Amino acid sequence: MSLLSFLKIAIKDYWRVGAIKPTSDFAAKKLAGLIEPNHKFIIEYGAGDGALTREILKTLPPDGLLIAVEINSSFVKELKKIQNNQLLIINDNVSDISKNLTKLGLPKIDAVISGIPFSHIKAETGKEIIRNTYQSLAESGMFIIYQHSPRILPWLKSLCNGNIQWYFEPRNFLPYFVMIARKQD
Ligand SMILES: C[S@@+](CC[C@H](N)C(=O)[O-])C[C@H]1O[C@@H](n2cnc3c(N)ncnc32)[C@H](O)[C@@H]1O
Repeated sequence: MSLLSFLKIAIKDYWRVGAIKPTSDFAAKKLAGLIEPNHKFIIEYGAGDGALTREILKTLPPDGLLIAVEINSSFVKELKKIQNNQLLIINDNVSDISKNLTKLGLPKIDAVISGIPFSHIKAETGKEIIRNTYQSLAESGMFIIYQHSPRILPWLKSLCNGNIQWYFEPRNFLPYFVMIARKQD
């Protein structure tokens, strides 16, 4: 999708999109690189036009699967152009889907990677999404969240007893805080 088309969708639906450009190639490669070689079953929240989706697919083992959840139907149309039988696209709201991730039918959930703008979501809803997602992870699974604001860091920390790493990613417009919570063994 062109930057202009992304911008038009972002302006129309700014409260949900929360960005005016897709994730940069540099940041997307680095985010996808956080997924470990033994991670087979991945869920992406807020896949947008697929900037990160394409990079995650490159890291998947041949028997892996990526489920991309996206609420905006214009972005979903764009995601459907990705020809890859390891990708399943769901046009729905993460706050509904995350209530029961087992319904998605994955054998387990190794990693969830999320770009939905938590700063634009009611605190209670955001906390519920984060709690439900973290609880659904397999042992040693990862919940990776990239955001323009570190607001959710304390919520994540309290869930995973501080078993969290984070970094600042300046090579994106606007820069991201990337937070990685690991499920305790
Ligand atoms: C910051 S953009 C990231 C887009 C893309 N992942 C990227 O890295 O370029 C956030 C995306 O989350 C989607 N989104 C926001 N709230 C959502 C929700 N509750 N459920 C599903 N998708 C949502 C938006 O439509 C948008 O595509």
